[in-house]
Amino acid sequence: MRQAGRALPEYRAIREKHGFMEMLSTPELIVEVSLQPWRRFKMDAVIVFSDILLIPWKMGMDLKFIEGQGPKFSKLIETEKDVESLQSITPEKDCPFLLTALRQLRKEIRNNAALLGFAGSPWTVASYMLSGVILSPELVEGRRISGSFADAQDDTVDTVKILLEKLTQQTIVYLKAQIEAGVDAVQIFDSWGGSLSAEEYAVWSAPYIKEVVAALKPTGVPTILYIKDSRHLLDQMVSTGVDVISVGWETPLELARKKRCAIQGNLDPHILMQATPDEVREKTQNMLNEMKNYPGYIANLGHGVLPKTPLENIAAFVETVKRCHCEEPQATKQSK
Ligand code: CP3
Repeated sequence: MRQAGRALPEYRAIREKHGFMEMLSTPELIVEVSLQPWRRFKMDAVIVFSDILLIPWKMGMDLKFIEGQGPKFSKLIETEKDVESLQSITPEKDCPFLLTALRQLRKEIRNNAALLGFAGSPWTVASYMLSGVILSPELVEGRRISGSFADAQDDTVDTVKILLEKLTQQTIVYLKAQIEAGVDAVQIFDSWGGSLSAEEYAVWSAPYIKEVVAALKPTGVPTILYIKDSRHLLDQMVSTGVDVISVGWETPLELARKKRCAIQGNLDPHILMQATPDEVREKTQNMLNEMKNYPGYIANLGHGVLPKTPLENIAAFVETVKRCHCEEPQATKQSK
């Protein structure tokens, strides 16, 4: 998930001096901002500071960061010609800053934490390229694109499919390069995938993720798939062949458990933003109790850390999870 965001004062201090796009493409800044949450909270994993829109940016789309909104493309993909004009990326040439940063992060972290690389899913990234959905809580735009397919001309459908296939190939080379640079696992963010029905997902998102996962399998590096509104898509997630399914907070872990697949998630980040540290500890402990004895569980939030989240609540979450590794929950002790 997004670890750094705007919650940390040390992140904001750097952001005051540097633009987001500059930060994305400067190895020293990537390393520093990636390490900030880890230095403070000592999570078990460090996710590299980057963005899912790096691929389309490097494929030739002009990307700008609009303060208060987020990253935006100056011009969206509208025609077949726009799709054709997208260039293939060579990670060593087009994003050396990211690979240099990953190699440096690997050295600094050594084996004291897992290093995570990531990319957006073809569907989620295509949604941004086609409709510019950014910060759309209802995820409506993603739905609109797919909804319009029913009436769309066949060639529109074909064009989007060509785009998805292009993105799939780019994602594969991009993630392979991150793996070569030393990441321990890669996360695929299909954040907006949940705006699709299970049937739509099987057509517009799952096949492309499946292709990415299959291409990465020989590397032996685990893959994690995140979908925010994942409740109706759990079977689809498993069928992509990923090693871990990462679910949003609306998805009961009880449902996810039935899939017999490694699970990551899913405390509601709003709890971290609004509750007291004691309440955070309690809710986190409840989540851990629910997943006790489940083989292959990664405690995490159900989405990224929200800006304005009190730092003591992030600390309360991490401490509760870490303590759980060494201490048995209270109930078990008493029952002995
Ligand atoms: O915290 C980290 O540094 C981890 C790296 C990371 C970022 N983006 C940096 C970032 C990761 C894993 C992402 C993924 C990402 N980016 C996703 C998928 C995950 C998710 O949250 O669903 C998406 C949809 C994006 C696109 C994006 N980037 C949006 C919509 C925004 C603006 C809204 C927001 O929440 O900030 C960003 C900006 C962004 N990406 C920030 C960071 C740290 C905040 C930048 C700032 O305001 O300084």
